[in-house]
Amino acid sequence: MVNRTLIEATWVEVFLTRLNELPLDSGLGTNGACLIASFSIEGHAIVSVDDMIADASGAMPPALRHPADWVRFQAALDEAALVVLGRRSHETTPNPKGRNRLVMSRSVAGLEQRVDGWWWNPEGVLLQDALDAAAPEGGLVAVPGGRGVFDFFLGAGFDAFHLARNAGVMLPGGVPVFGACADGLSAEAVLSGHGLRAGEAEVLDADAGVTLTVWRR
Ligand SMILES: NC(=O)c1ccc[n+]([C@@H]2O[C@H](COP(=O)([O-])OP(=O)(O)OC[C@H]3O[C@@H](n4cnc5c(N)ncnc54)[C@H](OP(=O)(O)O)[C@@H]3O)[C@@H](O)[C@H]2O)c1
Repeated sequence: MVNRTLIEATWVEVFLTRLNELPLDSGLGTNGACLIASFSIEGHAIVSVDDMIADASGAMPPALRHPADWVRFQAALDEAALVVLGRRSHETTPNPKGRNRLVMSRSVAGLEQRVDGWWWNPEGVLLQDALDAAAPEGGLVAVPGGRGVFDFFLGAGFDAFHLARNAGVMLPGGVPVFGACADGLSAEAVLSGHGLRAGEAEVLDADAGVTLTVWRR
């Protein structure tokens, strides 16, 4: 006979263990399901054939960028109510259009509004509160990374991820798009493991081997 009390107790224990494993700063579900009200969160990256967003020096080589992807990416940023960037990307990418930026950095305690945008540390302020303050009308949140930012939003739950790949570029020892890629997982496996499903791949440049796949929840 099955011991129902034992099974229920074990299930509760597993549930509590999982709950304790949740990142405190995300406030979100175990499967990456997005619980962020009023916002649609969409990641954007162009990766090398080996899943890198930057080379071994930490810089993004011009060869990785592609004009067709760049135009698409810039149009997506124009549509967004808010653009979330890591501090390094913010500092190395000028903002001539004055887009509304949320800069992730551990150098701030919580959320600060500065002349160059909102600076945010998720250890001090919840994601929902940061988004509500920086984009009170809600809407589209574009997340161009880099890696630590992508990892944070994988936990929080992307609604979509626009993954471009430049098959003509290899960046050994570079910066992987997601931390888990350093353990041998492909970007696709990471997205799939976080509840996203691939749309049809679009060929942006057949000769250069540049494709775009939009992953959606
Ligand atoms: N190919 C692509 O699509 C693509 C996309 C994005 C970036 N890039 C390139 O990748 C390179 C850099 O990427 P990266 O990943 O090293 O830098 P990054 O994400 O732009 O910036 C890293 C910084 O962001 C802050 N940060 C990241 N995660 C955080 C978290 N969870 N909480 C609080 N702060 C956090 C930290 O700032 P503090 O040090 O201030 O605490 C960290 O040092 C650049 O060359 C960039 O151009 C390429």
